[in-house]
Amino acid sequence: MTVGLLGGGVIGGGWAARFVLNGIDIRLYDPDPDAPRKVDLMLENARHALGRLTYAPLPAPGGVTFVASPEEAAEGASFIQENAPERIDLKRELLAAASRVAPSEVVIASSTSGLLPSLLQEGMEHPERLTVGHPFNPVYLLPLVEVCAGAATAPEAIERAAELYRSVGMHPLVVRREVDGFIADRLLEAIWREALWLVHDEVATVEEIDDAIRYGPGLRWSSMGTFLLYRIAGGEAGMRHFMAQFGPALQWPWSKLTDVPELTEELLERLEQQSDAQAAGRSVGELERLRDDCLVAVLQALRANGVGAGQTLADHERRLLERAVVR
Ligand SMILES: NC(=O)c1ccc[n+]([C@@H]2O[C@H](COP(=O)([O-])OP(=O)(O)OC[C@H]3O[C@@H](n4cnc5c(N)ncnc54)[C@H](O)[C@@H]3O)[C@@H](O)[C@H]2O)c1
Repeated sequence: MTVGLLGGGVIGGGWAARFVLNGIDIRLYDPDPDAPRKVDLMLENARHALGRLTYAPLPAPGGVTFVASPEEAAEGASFIQENAPERIDLKRELLAAASRVAPSEVVIASSTSGLLPSLLQEGMEHPERLTVGHPFNPVYLLPLVEVCAGAATAPEAIERAAELYRSVGMHPLVVRREVDGFIADRLLEAIWREALWLVHDEVATVEEIDDAIRYGPGLRWSSMGTFLLYRIAGGEAGMRHFMAQFGPALQWPWSKLTDVPELTEELLERLEQQSDAQAAGRSVGELERLRDDCLVAVLQALRANGVGAGQTLADHERRLLERAVVR
């Protein structure tokens, strides 16, 4: 099978690694002459991470072909994933170009973090095969991919995209209704906005905010999400008791809701200085390795307990074993 990739940056490179290490060939278009080097680095990180994550027999890796146009990326592809910068005009152009080449049954997915699929469909041939397939960085390790239909999307396109994502070890979460930011980014943006206010108001440094997550709630989120956690926090009396106890605080309110701090030069300077200090001279590559090693350990712990992303990993390993036996 061949997947066409449009854009090979942080996310496109991550998709490249996810597909190639699951035995799928890719044809990748990215106008940046440095893209092959970056994709290579991503593949190296992914090989390192997957080598530690699982003993399951991965298939022979797919081939990587860099091509010179979106049309060439679409040629012969049975699925297309677009990962260009978050600009609607640019994405529309690419999606339309790919749709003129790819036969009507080829599903075309966009990695957009928040653009509405109904808007992306405009100008495409056979817009019914367009879906959002919104992944999370690093794409080769995190299984979540939010799948969201636009007004013209056919249900079969959603099913086919979900099936492909499942076959490469992911957890497709179909978003029931087309909304800005889908599900996860709405949650993440709320936290991000609050975090910026805390730095802006000099309540906390960026490191203290990260500590507030990684020493406490962040550890719980990977296994329990948020509602299941609060169900437990309600004790035997359950969620209603929890809401009675903590519901009133929502009215005060503690958070800044949708207000956004102005991104003044002063605030940007503070964010930059504190974030650089926190990185403590470690390169992005070193930090990526550390992040991946920790993610691998978390995924393995979740697999041992049959929970969440660990269950997705166990299911994928079973599929890989079955495929290896058939081979
Ligand atoms: N970074 C994240 O955490 C994240 C997570 C999920 C989804 N996304 C989404 O993924 C998409 C890509 O984001 P990213 O973080 O990989 O950005 P990025 O800047 O790392 O990569 C974008 C790539 O697109 C290439 N590009 C520029 N013009 C192009 C064109 N005309 N055709 C094809 N490629 C082109 C660039 O050279 C670059 O390599 C965006 O829609 C973004 O919202 C990002």
